[in-house]
Amino acid sequence: MVLQAIRYSRGSLQILDQLKLPHEEVYRDIWTVQDAWDAIHSMQVRGAPAIAIVAALSIAACVARCNKNGADPALLGPDMTGAGLISHNLQILLTSRPTAVNLADAVRKLEKVVWQAQQQPSSTDYSINEAYIQAAEQMLVDDVRDNENIGNHGADWILRHTETIFPAGKLSVLTHCNTGSLATAGYGTALGVIRSLHSRGYIKRAYYTETRPYNQGSRLTGYELMHDNIPSQMITDSMAGALLGLKRDAENINCIIVGADRVAANGDTANKIGTYALAVLAKWHNVKFIVAAPRTTIDLNTASGQDIMIEERRSHEVTTMRGPAVQRSKDGSLIVGGSVHEIAIAADHHGAWNPAFDVTCHTLIDAIVTEKGVVEKDENGEFHFEKLFAD
Ligand code: MRU
Repeated sequence: MVLQAIRYSRGSLQILDQLKLPHEEVYRDIWTVQDAWDAIHSMQVRGAPAIAIVAALSIAACVARCNKNGADPALLGPDMTGAGLISHNLQILLTSRPTAVNLADAVRKLEKVVWQAQQQPSSTDYSINEAYIQAAEQMLVDDVRDNENIGNHGADWILRHTETIFPAGKLSVLTHCNTGSLATAGYGTALGVIRSLHSRGYIKRAYYTETRPYNQGSRLTGYELMHDNIPSQMITDSMAGALLGLKRDAENINCIIVGADRVAANGDTANKIGTYALAVLAKWHNVKFIVAAPRTTIDLNTASGQDIMIEERRSHEVTTMRGPAVQRSKDGSLIVGGSVHEIAIAADHHGAWNPAFDVTCHTLIDAIVTEKGVVEKDENGEFHFEKLFAD
């Protein structure tokens, strides 16, 4: 079975509700642009590429229905038509989450498509809608292909730059958050690199952090690794230092590989909160630290990490946890069952600080893997991305 975060066919869009995973697999209809905004904002769908694709396809599904049946109330701003209506809805979706640049990049490209379609002498609302639908659908197709290329480039680079474990010739890697099929149109970025290494027989074990507070690691990456039968083990975020230090003799971690939400022009990288701490640990322990992301995540208009807006989320995501009830059987094993609910886990007198992302300085990053190849720093310690955008 293929793991699919996004189910799309002309006029219809569904997402796998990631708030319910791994305990329940529920697909939700994204019927209106407001549904898409809510799903992204509440993180029913999350991950930089998946956010952008769901936003783009939610409008595509609406305008496909317009082309078939006439005006569709699922679009916001019903007094407008054609290009204006699409553009208005793209701008609304842009406000759903601020840090990942992929959504802004998609909006910019789609607005250009709409503008070009509008310039055609025979342009009609129908033809503008059609041009938009084709461009949005292409994003879904391109993302899977790009991720497979990221996976292969990353695996090649890691095999060239790390020593496999004697005598089995395998690697142990550590990853953070969820960067797999659930965070993209399919295959994944950092998790795509792990998938590629595994398909070539090189993975001894993939460690993944729990990734508090939203638990993308324990809930989503664990689910994906299990789905693909990749040997893996979870650690809490606070165990990463011990994994690289205390456990070093037993289990050499060959590299840490993470995704990205925005890579600034100098290589500073915003990614899930906790990434920066892992990069510092990697430097201290002389372990390679690599970032895997499509070119749509590289933002040449943002000079450095200081200019990246970091989303702060509500305190209760830190002070509560979600999951089904657990009972203990007579032999001590756990029985998980019942519906997913929320429990309080903190003395919540003052609330909690909840930045969703942090910024890792480029000096801590060894390589940035994209679908067009791997970028390393020059002799002055600087990343240059211009060549990636030559085509
Ligand atoms: O808050 P999230 O779950 O959307 O954060 C996701 C991450 O930080 C991922 O590492 C990043 O988006 C890359 S996903 C391929």
